[in-house]
Amino acid sequence: MELVTTFAEARKLAVGRVGLVATMGYLHEGHLSHVAAGRAQCDTVILSLFVNPLQFAPDEDLAGYPRDLARDAILAADAGVDALFAPSSTEMYPDEPMTRVAVAGLGDRLEGRSRQGHFSGVATVVAKLFAGLQPDAAFFGRKDAQQLAVITRMAHDLSFPVEVVGGPTVRESDGLALSSRNIYLSQEERSLVPAISRGLMRAASVAEEGERSGATLVAIVRAEVEPRLEPEYVELADRETIETMTRLDRDAFLSLAVRVGATRLIDNVFFDLSPDGSVVADRGVVLDGPSLLDSPEPGRG
Ligand code: PAJ
Repeated sequence: MELVTTFAEARKLAVGRVGLVATMGYLHEGHLSHVAAGRAQCDTVILSLFVNPLQFAPDEDLAGYPRDLARDAILAADAGVDALFAPSSTEMYPDEPMTRVAVAGLGDRLEGRSRQGHFSGVATVVAKLFAGLQPDAAFFGRKDAQQLAVITRMAHDLSFPVEVVGGPTVRESDGLALSSRNIYLSQEERSLVPAISRGLMRAASVAEEGERSGATLVAIVRAEVEPRLEPEYVELADRETIETMTRLDRDAFLSLAVRVGATRLIDNVFFDLSPDGSVVADRGVVLDGPSLLDSPEPGRG
């Protein structure tokens, strides 16, 4: 694996079909699942690692976001990444960008309501990665369902010749969706948060058994997480437009955001509607043992 810091160097390493896995680092099995998908479908896998200031609001955790390039380089190399692209801020933003990408509507709902400007920051940096690295395919997590919708639409609207691929959410053995931010949970907070995925899994089973009312599915999630956790929202939404759905009558996701102390967690389940009207839920993938986020120095012990 080569570690490169400029777009030009990264492009020189690209051979054949190029897959991009975009990350902000502090890698875990969720990120690595996209590397595996890229390895299976592409000749060259580029993993980008950049904590993007443009997508953090002034009151969010930009300075405190976990960073460990040495750790990530070991994990990326072991996972079969060809090029680890870790640009400096000046490579990514040589000047304060006068051009921003915003996906109207999509970026303003759900997460966009409490994180103004967030998705414009995401869409802008991902557009730059697509332009600068010219991948043929790019792999993103369903964990961030709205982000996946925004990026898919941005690539379509701007005619980037890239296939945007969404992969399932990877979970701790107790169901908690992996997130680099989980390392900030106190022991007490950590013991509360499995209720989030428990609520979603229960709703998934009820939907597969035939329930189609959005309000009922939302209530099932709320019953599991409240009152010990206070969700910012629980909503059933259209997968492409992010519009709220009152009935589960097309492809959707049921998602919630929860603030736990200083940490904000999001999670969801995807619902696919078959032509016969039945529903299949994507609950993600559950790890058998501890995750990389549970061990302080993976690859070295
Ligand atoms: P980051 O949070 O580092 O996530 C990088 C990619 O990994 C995203 O596509 C995200 O959806 C995916 N991911 C995160 N947790 C996952 C999990 N538990 N299972 C499966 N996939 C998971 O998302 C970002 O970075 C940034 O917004 C980025 C797209 C890189 C733009 O800056």
